[in-house]
Amino acid sequence: MQLITAASLWAIVLSLGDASAKEAAAPSATKPSLAPVVSNLAYSQPIINIPALGRTHPKFVPTSSLVANASVPVTFEHSVASGDPTANAVIIWTKITTKDTNPVPVQYQVASTADFSQIVSTGVLLTDASVDHTVKLDITGLQPGTTYYYRFTTSSGSVTSPVGKTHTLPAADASVASYKLAVVSCSSLPHGFFNAYAGIGNRKDVDVVLHLGDYIYEYKNGGYGDGSKIGRIPQPDKDITSLDDYRQRHAQYKRDVDLQAAHLNVPWVTVWDDHEFANDAWHDGAQHHDPKTEGPWETRKANAIRAYFEYMPIRPVTIDQTGHIYRSFQVGKLLDLIMLDTRINGRNETDIFWPWIKNDPKRTILGYDQEAWLDQQLVQSKNRGAKWRVLGNQVVFTPLKVVGASILLDSWDDYPAARDRLLTSMASNGIKDTVILTGDIHTAFAINAPGKAGASGLVELVTTSVTSPGAGAIGAGALKLANKSIKYANGADHGYLVTTITPEKVTGEFVMVSTIGSRTATEKVDATVVTNAGAGTISDLQRH
Ligand SMILES: *[C@@H]1O[C@H](CO)[C@@H](O)[C@H](O)[C@H]1NC(C)=O
Ligand SMILES: *[C@@H]1O[C@H](CO)[C@@H](O)[C@H](O)[C@H]1NC(C)=O
Ligand SMILES: *[C@@H]1O[C@H](CO)[C@@H](O)[C@H](O)[C@H]1NC(C)=O
Ligand SMILES: [Fe+2]
Repeated sequence: MQLITAASLWAIVLSLGDASAKEAAAPSATKPSLAPVVSNLAYSQPIINIPALGRTHPKFVPTSSLVANASVPVTFEHSVASGDPTANAVIIWTKITTKDTNPVPVQYQVASTADFSQIVSTGVLLTDASVDHTVKLDITGLQPGTTYYYRFTTSSGSVTSPVGKTHTLPAADASVASYKLAVVSCSSLPHGFFNAYAGIGNRKDVDVVLHLGDYIYEYKNGGYGDGSKIGRIPQPDKDITSLDDYRQRHAQYKRDVDLQAAHLNVPWVTVWDDHEFANDAWHDGAQHHDPKTEGPWETRKANAIRAYFEYMPIRPVTIDQTGHIYRSFQVGKLLDLIMLDTRINGRNETDIFWPWIKNDPKRTILGYDQEAWLDQQLVQSKNRGAKWRVLGNQVVFTPLKVVGASILLDSWDDYPAARDRLLTSMASNGIKDTVILTGDIHTAFAINAPGKAGASGLVELVTTSVTSPGAGAIGAGALKLANKSIKYANGADHGYLVTTITPEKVTGEFVMVSTIGSRTATEKVDATVVTNAGAGTISDLQRH
């Protein structure tokens, strides 16, 4: 552990000049006794080329603000997290807890060995209340397909965060024999314990955790789930609207030990759904937002976006003002992981009941920019020879109908023209071997999604919730009966989905936990679903 001395820091500050203007570049570890000062990405979020949306980075002024005030304790109560791995970079995250009103220096270390004997990147950065004491870095210049360990310490070196483990993706041209994604969504704190997260934390075989949204919920206690009996009352206990509200809620979730366990040893790739904002949100509003009492939607949306970027290990976007988070990841030649934002980016009004409005051909769920991007991503993926395309999607894609009528609002069913455009584009571009992973509905499904004649279809695997209540056994059973395209449905249980991707097949294992009522649970695989390469449909299903 290297100690940062005031004198050495001051020397670096002088040599760096205005370090605050720089992004967190990969600091070289050539002079381990002088950890370089780097910028905390939390300040330049959510959009790094639009500084107006960020926060002013603290100035690197004299030593008193670069060495933490030793009489004010600093702790790491929110553990650590990593995310958005690429072949050469990964985001690392933490948050400190302190009453210090000055900017507080935090040192980070990334090592290729668990004992930190081989440090590959280290530096010191500042955090303060203007970013809720969050710390975020994009560690670049790493080796592909490699495991790394990371930790944070206070400037005195006396308090150290938990040690996180993470890894980079294989190089884009690498052959990959197998890749495993754990897929989760809908983790409502007052509804129960996050045993699904604990289960993921216990596994040694998961490569990346995909969170498809509803990572937090915006309600006051009793608004959606009553956590009083199990000591899980949402903080602050109100429907959250302000930046401070969203921060407090995210911070509370990050103090959950099971959620911490799931973050500790594996990078996450996340997207938001409605509850990171408010129920049934769309670009210009939400079912659970009343501008008369809660103020302008744009303000609440901006608060939710800023808190999300402060608290989640997600790479800030660089492209435009819309705060878009749709993005993609190349996992060797095996797959492209294409993460969609079906919620906020460009979605037209949701919860549309009237068919003549629903069927408006101009309606979009992705936004026209993301539609074009997605078409292009799928073609690029095919052209580069990636074996599979995996879409990280929030709301259910397949039509869910009972006696011919759509029963699901707030899903792709509300945007049939947009769904049709995607399927048509996939058919005309010959896009095959695509699996769509979905959350939001608190019910597990394996479905042969619709395809256009002649094109191979799409398989939709929907994960159940971590805790949020589902359709129930009866509701899920009825849906399955109504349409033989639905091969599996479980609306009673909670858990997660493990997808194992190999060149030959995609295997989905629906893992269910025995309870969410207490912290002790067992888990079992309820069903295994296989899609063979070239099949375009579910090839095999086993109930266990
Ligand atoms: C350090 O913290 C103590 C306790 O809050 C405070 O009295 C003191 O002024 C602080 N020192 C500096 C240099 O900020
Ligand atoms: C639908 O959303 C798009 C942007 O994504 C917007 O251009 C269009 O005006 C919206 N249409 C309606 C009816 O709101
Ligand atoms: C069943 O689902 C498929 C989508 O996979 C859809 O195309 C079809 O219209 C549905 N049939 C009924 C009767 O709802
Ligand atoms: Fe949702």
